[in-house]
Amino acid sequence: SIRRERRGDRCGCLASELSFLLEPSDVIAVRERPLMLDCRVQGEEPIMVTWRKNGAPLPTSPQVQVLENGTLFIRSFQKRKEGSDADMGEYDCAAQNRYGMLVSRKAKVLLASLPKFHTHPLSMSVDEGGVARFQCQINGVPEANITWERDRVALNTTDNRYTLLPMGILQVTGVRQVDAGVFRCVATNSANTRFSHEAMLNITGRTYKEPVILSGPQNLTITVHQTAILECIATGNPRPIVSWSRLDGRSIGVEGIQVLGTGNLMISDVSLQHSGVYVCAANRPGTRMRRTALGRLVVQAPPEFLQWPQSVSKPAGGSAVFTCVAQGVPEPHLIWLKNGKVLMPGHNVKLTNNNRWVMALCSHCNNTD
Ligand SMILES: *[C@@H]1O[C@H](CO)[C@@H](O)[C@H](O)[C@H]1NC(C)=O
Ligand SMILES: *[C@@H]1O[C@H](CO)[C@@H](O)[C@H](O)[C@H]1NC(C)=O
Ligand SMILES: *[C@@H]1O[C@H](CO)[C@@H](O)[C@H](O)[C@H]1NC(C)=O
Ligand SMILES: *[C@@H]1O[C@H](CO)[C@@H](O)[C@H](O)[C@H]1NC(C)=O
Repeated sequence: SIRRERRGDRCGCLASELSFLLEPSDVIAVRERPLMLDCRVQGEEPIMVTWRKNGAPLPTSPQVQVLENGTLFIRSFQKRKEGSDADMGEYDCAAQNRYGMLVSRKAKVLLASLPKFHTHPLSMSVDEGGVARFQCQINGVPEANITWERDRVALNTTDNRYTLLPMGILQVTGVRQVDAGVFRCVATNSANTRFSHEAMLNITGRTYKEPVILSGPQNLTITVHQTAILECIATGNPRPIVSWSRLDGRSIGVEGIQVLGTGNLMISDVSLQHSGVYVCAANRPGTRMRRTALGRLVVQAPPEFLQWPQSVSKPAGGSAVFTCVAQGVPEPHLIWLKNGKVLMPGHNVKLTNNNRWVMALCSHCNNTD
């Protein structure tokens, strides 16, 4: 049978055919804690469920078991193991009955971790009324929750002069003497908690300053329906006015658009139309003096099936055609499997337009093509 990327209820096929009710999903495991990966199938009994890790059959043991409902149970998740790999990797399950074999999606299993900060906040001297920006970065799995401290006391970010952005960014606008102090960030996830180095914020007297963009938008790639935040923080005296436009001249629109802090652009529930280059401009009030910075937003859409292969009954000597159509951004790459093995073109199997297989059915053909 052919791999199906769909639910049993949408399958117009015979009840005896295999289909997945539940496939394993990506998870982040915690060290020395149990882990379960689900795999539920329906079809004509008897059905045998087996698991593979990184493409190779997974040996079972008292530590690693396949439960009666098909779930894989790892008693105590290991980071390192004597003489073998750790438990991280890509897992899939295979279900077999007398009609053939069906292989699930591959589930990525990662270990929760919180390595050291790779960016620490840097000390700054800022004119009174100006803008301060600190950033700290850490590659946590799962993503760390970042909060800030001033003089080792949790920062009160309900003050609207303080803006927290993703990527560990803290912006302070209209700084005053009371903002001076020693800043550091605190990162927390299921694996650990870490503190960054400390950075000083000094406040100096006010002087005339031309507008400067302290930090402009980064190139950003996100998935449809997520929220995009494009940073733009400008400083100067008098305080510059920040505005946004698209490089292609199209309107940014108003729906789902918000300004965070003094100039960061937030787009909620992004769609493919939001892809483009965004320009942030900082103007000195009442003049044409301006600075700009730009960043590209790329919106991607996950693959989605528009057409699935259908079951067919054909006499030997004829041919069978299976069609599969998927859409997504970027264009999805299709892989065909027969009984869990990648199908390659052969003397009796042809692939046309990358999505249609024509298979000659002959009683003497060997089973590999
Ligand atoms: C499978 O069985 C185990 C043990 O009985 C149970 O904890 C788990 O929730 C079951 N999984 C599903 C998907 O039913
Ligand atoms: C991050 O930490 C703050 C402060 O402890 C808490 O209020 C917030 O809910 C946390 N966010 C997440 C996503 O865990
Ligand atoms: C945080 O700041 C807000 C606004 O300035 C203030 O009303 C509130 O009392 C402060 N909270 C704490 C715990 O200091
Ligand atoms: C953003 O992408 C453009 C090309 O689209 C590239 O020229 C530019 O260097 C990138 N900027 C950053 C900060 O990576």
